[in-house]
Amino acid sequence: MQPNKKISIIVAVANNNAIGKDNKLLWHLSEDLKRFKQRTSGHYIIMGKNTYYSLPKRPLPDRTHIILTDVPGEQIDDCIMAYSIDDAISKMNPREENFIIGGASIYRQFLPHADKLYITWVHEKFEADTFFPELNEKEWKKIDEEKFPYTDEKNPFPHTYATYERIP
Ligand SMILES: NC(=O)c1ccc[n+]([C@@H]2O[C@H](COP(=O)([O-])OP(=O)(O)OC[C@H]3O[C@@H](n4cnc5c(N)ncnc54)[C@H](OP(=O)(O)O)[C@@H]3O)[C@@H](O)[C@H]2O)c1
Repeated sequence: MQPNKKISIIVAVANNNAIGKDNKLLWHLSEDLKRFKQRTSGHYIIMGKNTYYSLPKRPLPDRTHIILTDVPGEQIDDCIMAYSIDDAISKMNPREENFIIGGASIYRQFLPHADKLYITWVHEKFEADTFFPELNEKEWKKIDEEKFPYTDEKNPFPHTYATYERIP
């Protein structure tokens, strides 16, 4: 039998659970983007089609992309296509951590399958049209937290990097 795949969610979430509007991110945090690149480079990243087309540069360098779409037979250059959650899981890397990178519909559907969450909590409220689901505190244990309370030109909002593991 195939061993379980390691599935991690990586996301930046505002105080009101907002994550995006008009198929764009709501903020620019240079430090968060740097950490996202460091953490995901060399790995598989899994996303919905909207998020793929929201990327400023695509595909992202040095990462294997799995793109979810309901459109049968659709192909995007240099990407692995998946047509359901199970199909995406079957195409993930069996040996290493796989990163779910959004958007809202994909986070919602993968949350029950994830064993780790890397959440950047952005300490601000935003008007949005896409949101991260509410976490059930009984299911997740925070194992690491790093506060970034300062703001500067490149990081205009205070934020916190938190890592959670699923409670067995
Ligand atoms: N803050 C963050 O960390 C973060 C990260 C990523 C994205 N975002 C934001 O999230 C927003 C996009 O989220 P979204 O929910 O609109 O779009 P999305 O989740 O990126 O993509 C949705 C699309 O994925 C496909 N899909 C979803 N579930 C599927 C399934 N079970 N089987 C097959 N295909 C499936 C469908 O594509 P088809 O229409 O082709 O069928 C669907 O229309 C943007 O504003 C983006 O900036 C924020």
